Amino acid sequence: MSIQTEKVKELVERRASARLGGGEKRIEAQHSKGKLTARERIELLLDPGSFEEFDMFVQHRCVNFGMDASHPDGDGVVTGHGTIDGREVYLFAQDFTVSGGSLSKTMSEKICKVMDMAARNGVPFIGLNDSGGARIQEGIDALAGYGDIFERNILSSGVIPQISGIFGPCAGGAVYSPALTDFTVMVRNTSYMFLTGPAVVKQVTGEEVNQEELGGASVHASKSGVAHFAADSEQEGVDTIKRLLSFLPQNNMETAPLRPTTDPVGRVDDLLNEIIPDNPNKAYDMYGVIRSIVDDGDFFEVHKDFARNIIVGFAHMNGRSVGVVANQPNVLAGVLDINASRKAARFVRFCDAFNIPLVTLVDVPGFLCGTQQEYGAIITNGAKLLYAYGEATVPKVTVTLRKSYGGAHIVMSCKQLRGDINYAWPTANIAVMGAEGAVDVLYAKESPEVREEKIKEYNDLFCNPYQAAQKGYIEDVIEPRNTRFRVIRALETLDGKRQDIPAKKHDNLPL
Ligand code: HXC
Repeated sequence: MSIQTEKVKELVERRASARLGGGEKRIEAQHSKGKLTARERIELLLDPGSFEEFDMFVQHRCVNFGMDASHPDGDGVVTGHGTIDGREVYLFAQDFTVSGGSLSKTMSEKICKVMDMAARNGVPFIGLNDSGGARIQEGIDALAGYGDIFERNILSSGVIPQISGIFGPCAGGAVYSPALTDFTVMVRNTSYMFLTGPAVVKQVTGEEVNQEELGGASVHASKSGVAHFAADSEQEGVDTIKRLLSFLPQNNMETAPLRPTTDPVGRVDDLLNEIIPDNPNKAYDMYGVIRSIVDDGDFFEVHKDFARNIIVGFAHMNGRSVGVVANQPNVLAGVLDINASRKAARFVRFCDAFNIPLVTLVDVPGFLCGTQQEYGAIITNGAKLLYAYGEATVPKVTVTLRKSYGGAHIVMSCKQLRGDINYAWPTANIAVMGAEGAVDVLYAKESPEVREEKIKEYNDLFCNPYQAAQKGYIEDVIEPRNTRFRVIRALETLDGKRQDIPAKKHDNLPL
């Protein structure tokens, strides 16, 4: 065997050994928990044969607590780049089979290297997390490693899409990297995120709770909103990441790819002319409207189980990627509360950062009132959504279907917040408040007959779209069945939109 052949053989063997991470036994243990390994996850995520790995032979430099006895190649994380549907991404996947995927200084250096490359090359970044947190033996070095990652998450925010997959433990300060990224996908029953685990919670507060109840996928997808998606399996988690990317541009200088469709632009839907119930207090399902107007009825919802009184997600309209924001009359009458405002505000800001036009469908009775909301700062949280729409410079097309009352009318992408094209259905009520509420304030002491008369007068005057149309606050009153092509035409005319905000160091969004 020539020297060169021997050296190539050594390389092949070294690679094979590095690919085993913590070894066969630990890989088996990982599988027995119903989890895949880092490399198996990457294989599922990327186009076949597209993965280019970096730093496979990097080893940790720690000598404390017996760490110098073992130096596994790769040090608990697999990093590199590849393609998804032919589009480039950079990524890391933590390898739980090596020291529980815990973060060492060298692991952070590997992760930071690919983060820097993603930012420099204008390519989305994906982190697949499965880690016991800071590598305890490394002390402050591990913490510094987290700090380095967080800083890069912050600098890349709004520049390249950043997506976190949580496929195992993610605890302590480690949770803040996913929290800084744009979207977080969790897997039910095998992943969890919390600042302190059940044992510490019990010690500090006496509360008894298991991992799943404290920080499982369902909790974060429905109660806290920390997770945007909860998947039933790792495969579904990976598919969610891929589908999400299909709606996004590579970076903030580009637009999302067009997706050709055979769905006719001029498709009308007569059912929309009958969807609004006669009784204004009766609900209907906004999903029906969304699916009716977008290409092929295909709507990719974000935060599906969190603050369900507002719906946000991605779709295509005549091939163009759009962000849809819609009040949901079927849940809490579509009222805006703290969580709905936070959810929609973050989504609007994401779309604005990444050149994705916004389509807003309005049926909102107002903001939720009461002490719980006031104590929780509905004022500040509602202002987030107001702020997000007001600062957004992407094309903004709004359709008011029914109620659009008071402050909530302003917040939901009204004309004065630089809404570009605002339409209303003939069933729209654009007013300060509903008729009963208004008469309660103005004619509280009057007889029921007078009040009845005033309610009618108020309804005739305000509870329609024509007052707004007469004053130019909306561009047109449209037939519901025509909504698809009216919105598509609006988006088309706004394609070249350029709008600035005053130069500033950064804004001061009400946090
Ligand atoms: C070093 C770690 C580790 C860590 C796990 N391991 N976490 N090694 N540092 N943080 C090692 C274990 O010693 C074990 O090694 C192997 O990984 C697998 O761990 P197990 O405990 O056997 O696995 P499992 O039973 O599945 O439990 C997983 C776990 C548990 C729940 C994550 O390991 C755990 O509680 N780890 C500690 C979590 C933690 O407190 N981390 C620090 C958080 S503070 P061997 O060789 O025995 O197989 C933090 C601060 C970040 O992260 C701050 C950022 C600003």
